[in-house]
Amino acid sequence: MAKMFLPSLLLFGLAITTFSAGDDQFVFSGFKNSGLTLDGSAFITQGGLLDMSNGTNNVKGHAIYPTPVLLRNSSSGKVQSFSATIVFCIVGVYPGVNANGMAFFIAPSKNLSEALPTQYFGILKQEHNNNLLVVEIDTFQNPELQDINDNHIGIDISSVFPFQSYMAGFYEDSSGDFKNLTLNNGMKMQLWVEYEQELTRINVTLAPLHVGKPLKPLLSATYDLSKVLTETTYIGFSSTAELMNARHYVLGWSFGVNMQAPSIDISKLPKLPRVGSKPQSKLLAIILPIATAALIISIVTVIFLMVRRRQRYQEVREDWESEFGPHRFSFKDLFRATEGFKSKNLVGAGGFGMVYKGVLKLSKKEIAVKRMSHESTQGMKEFVTEIVSIGKLRHRNLVQLLGYCRRKGELILVYDYMSNGSLDKYIHREEGKPTLNWAQRFHVIKGIATSLLYLHEKWEKVVIHRDIKASNVLLDTEMNGRLGDFGLARLYDHGTDPQSTHMVGTMGYLAPELVRTGKASPQTDMYAFGMFLLEVACGQKPIKQNSEGKQIFLVDWVIENWNNRSLSKTVDIWLRGDYNTDEACLVLKIGLLCLHPFPCSRPCMRDVMQYFNGEIPLPELRTTQLSMDMQGLMQDNGFNTSVMSYPQLMPSFSAMSDLSGGR
Ligand SMILES: Nc1ncnc2c1ncn2[C@@H]1O[C@H](COP(=O)(O)OP(=O)(O)O)[C@@H](O)[C@H]1O
Ligand SMILES: *[C@@H]1O[C@H](CO)[C@@H](O)[C@H](O)[C@H]1NC(C)=O
Ligand SMILES: *[C@@H]1O[C@H](CO)[C@@H](O)[C@H](O)[C@H]1NC(C)=O
Ligand SMILES: *[C@@H]1O[C@H](CO)[C@@H](O)[C@H](O)[C@H]1NC(C)=O
Ligand SMILES: *[C@@H]1O[C@H](CO)[C@@H](O)[C@H](O)[C@H]1NC(C)=O
Ligand SMILES: *[C@@H]1O[C@H](CO)[C@@H](O)[C@H](O)[C@H]1NC(C)=O
Ligand SMILES: [Mg+2]
Repeated sequence: MAKMFLPSLLLFGLAITTFSAGDDQFVFSGFKNSGLTLDGSAFITQGGLLDMSNGTNNVKGHAIYPTPVLLRNSSSGKVQSFSATIVFCIVGVYPGVNANGMAFFIAPSKNLSEALPTQYFGILKQEHNNNLLVVEIDTFQNPELQDINDNHIGIDISSVFPFQSYMAGFYEDSSGDFKNLTLNNGMKMQLWVEYEQELTRINVTLAPLHVGKPLKPLLSATYDLSKVLTETTYIGFSSTAELMNARHYVLGWSFGVNMQAPSIDISKLPKLPRVGSKPQSKLLAIILPIATAALIISIVTVIFLMVRRRQRYQEVREDWESEFGPHRFSFKDLFRATEGFKSKNLVGAGGFGMVYKGVLKLSKKEIAVKRMSHESTQGMKEFVTEIVSIGKLRHRNLVQLLGYCRRKGELILVYDYMSNGSLDKYIHREEGKPTLNWAQRFHVIKGIATSLLYLHEKWEKVVIHRDIKASNVLLDTEMNGRLGDFGLARLYDHGTDPQSTHMVGTMGYLAPELVRTGKASPQTDMYAFGMFLLEVACGQKPIKQNSEGKQIFLVDWVIENWNNRSLSKTVDIWLRGDYNTDEACLVLKIGLLCLHPFPCSRPCMRDVMQYFNGEIPLPELRTTQLSMDMQGLMQDNGFNTSVMSYPQLMPSFSAMSDLSGGR
């Protein structure tokens, strides 16, 4: 028959060829209008591609040449030489996962309905079926069938057990090396099946489509097919798809009896379907991971920010606090007011914690925010109750407490901001602040005296300050002295065992009985006030170290000078003698009175106010032991009998008249 016979048939849309005895051939470059007999999952696509497995699992599919092929010589009855060329392609849906495969077969019948759909290549119904030649293209290793691996080619004769098989690949002509091929990776391949009548040799050769037929076949078996094949035979393809994870395509097929199968025109082969439209997927392959990563990163970031925000503004709030609602600040507001507690807003650090300047966002009000660490919640309720009730105190010489906030391990108090800072900075000339002149000092002292009178006597209940000292005296814009931090010491006082009450207050300002009993009273406040008066008048700290490292107590020094009638020497030298002597004398005298070791001998705040106002004269102080080390007395942790005789002030205060003359 003419070589051009088939292409012209295709052109005319007819594909019925009958093999008569003798030489015959056909060639399909694509299967449009090929007239193949299809069953099961096999179908021919619009483009002419023979698709053996349609994506459904547990089905088999067959594509069979429509007419029988007569392979035997009518006179000798021997199976004649024949050859087949197949262009195929297997696309694993999940690359690397293999299942089943496809096969080229020669069978006695077109009716393969009895064959198993899931195994035996969709051709056999049991392990042995007579009259079959199968060339398996197997991508599944079935140990039952003694498969060598999951990527092999085999010759099976009337049996599912390979007569001969070998891993997929080919021998390179030039080097003779064996090159592996992976069957299901979507590569187009060509398979040659040849039978030589005389030598009864079956050769099977595999190669990638664009590599020509290798000289050395992959498989070469000797078997007389005359003993196997029937008179009438059918040729075709089969595929099984147990796991539907591969597509088996046949692109071209040629066959010849007693001659070489015609070569297939590669340029006319149908195109393979694009798996998920390739160019787009390439773009997606780049964009998708980036987009996914970006999405994950942004989600993580958002969660992180939300968690951090939650943590950052986390507060502690208990039921009992609801009644203090109006006095409660949210941490967020305070955080914003102080620009996140920036160090540039830090105005000072004291024994209780850090103080920050802040501006409330809404009211633009300046505030001082005091952050104190406070671990226990023990006594917190009492303290907050007290703080809030103290917040109701109104006096022009008190630093107004505005409210509070609580966080884990932290208590935050909010005060009016005092623009001129604390008095100690001026008295001790820290931070280059100018010293205050006498008039300013006296004004501050009187202001503090009135606020203390208010705390002790004018309010509905007695409020003990507990921590009077120069650094707790703040100066407002008009340089009025304002007492701050009242009651705060109480926070550290609460709930502690009275036996082991630790000291609350500031060294140097502690009354002897406070050291001894730990119990604060208006009298202990008076003691601290007395020390404050000396501090302001003398410009000295209550305790300082001399050059030899010995502690010098301000009160001793003042008493000593008083004894020596040189009290004027104690007045702050930075005033350069520019002060009102009467006032200075008054302040020092009241200071010493308040520093009396016996609490009951100290004046109360009302007395002090009257001394200041000149309404009553100062009592006469007598002492026998003015050189007595008063501070040492405090450190004794109690009075001993020899000290009990103290104080009997020897010279009267009138003896201080030398002050008026001295400078
Ligand atoms: N309401 C306020 N306005 C302005 N500055 C303040 C205010 N309260 C405190 N400060 C400053 O913060 C510093 C630290 O205060 P504080 O923690 O009470 O410590 P201490 O009173 O022991 O020095 C003070 O010395 C003062 O300069
Ligand atoms: C069949 O075989 C005989 C001898 O064995 C041979 O002469 C004849 O040519 C063969 N026929 C065909 C069609 O090949
Ligand atoms: C695939 O072929 C089988 C057998 O003919 C059929 O039952 C199934 O519906 C087909 N599936 C698709 C998706 O065409
Ligand atoms: C195929 O064979 C089976 C059983 O051998 C039979 O039932 C069926 O009718 C046959 N089908 C055709 C189309 O001949
Ligand atoms: C070919 O495949 C075999 C079996 O899988 C393997 O042992 C061999 O290393 C492979 N050779 C190459 C060159 O990939
Ligand atoms: C079959 O393979 C052998 C080598 O194994 C070779 O000598 C022979 O020519 C081959 N037959 C055909 C028809 O290619
Ligand atoms: Mg303070």
